[in-house]
Amino acid sequence: MMSAKPAVAIIRSKAAERQPKVGIILGSGLGPFADQVENQTVISYNDLPGFPDAGVEGHAGHLVLGSVGGTQVAVLQGRAHYYEKGQADVMRTPVETLKELGCETLLLTNAAGSLVPEAQPGSVMLLTDHINFTGVSPLFGHSERDRFVDMTNAYDLDLSNIMRQAAKKNNIKLNEGVYAWCCGPQFETPAEINALKILGVNAVGMSTVPEVIVARHSQIPLCALSIITNLAAGISTSALSHDQTIRVAKLGEDAIREILMTYLNSFSDEQ
Ligand code: HPA
Repeated sequence: MMSAKPAVAIIRSKAAERQPKVGIILGSGLGPFADQVENQTVISYNDLPGFPDAGVEGHAGHLVLGSVGGTQVAVLQGRAHYYEKGQADVMRTPVETLKELGCETLLLTNAAGSLVPEAQPGSVMLLTDHINFTGVSPLFGHSERDRFVDMTNAYDLDLSNIMRQAAKKNNIKLNEGVYAWCCGPQFETPAEINALKILGVNAVGMSTVPEVIVARHSQIPLCALSIITNLAAGISTSALSHDQTIRVAKLGEDAIREILMTYLNSFSDEQ
């Protein structure tokens, strides 16, 4: 695990005037949100020590600094996953970099499968809690006392309320639920989904939870929005595929963009 300091030094040397307040991580198929950022400074992950390799399919691998609706943001366009190299801490340096840059809030997005009939493909779900179904942690190897992170209310209650209001304002139906992190890259089996249903899970995916753990460790308040791209295995009548994930994520992109834009605009109204 690499400290965020070298990456932060490079970012400051390339974009000294930037003071991002909100960090945003864009998941599968959601990269185009970065087009909303005005006055962009774009830095490839390849130029940032400790960041994952850029250029993996579906993941641009750019840090985009700039403003949206008057709010200074730092957007991580593309994330790496545990399943790529079996490293649970692959997004730890990027999240800690956002913290060191001054981000006071982290907005996470992803694509997920739904276990509940009300959350159909193309819809958006606000995550209220999670179950880490992988048995691994991005804090493995961290030996300080602060590794014992309290995960109660990890998904910030105030931010969640703001997202609910932002969805309402845009007439977007916002489902809510508990997300299970499964390691992938294979999709789950129907038996696994059945088990998760019994455990109280509403959506399932292969990301986000490690970033939530790191953000809690770094004490950044966060919230997370999933685009539902499919009904989960055994519930869906069609075969699951990554192509479907990318294709359907585009359908939910407008809704996520409207919610995030409303949030980022309201933030600057207060100033
Ligand atoms: N399972 C896991 N990850 C996913 C899914 C799914 O059904 N859909 C999109 N990402």
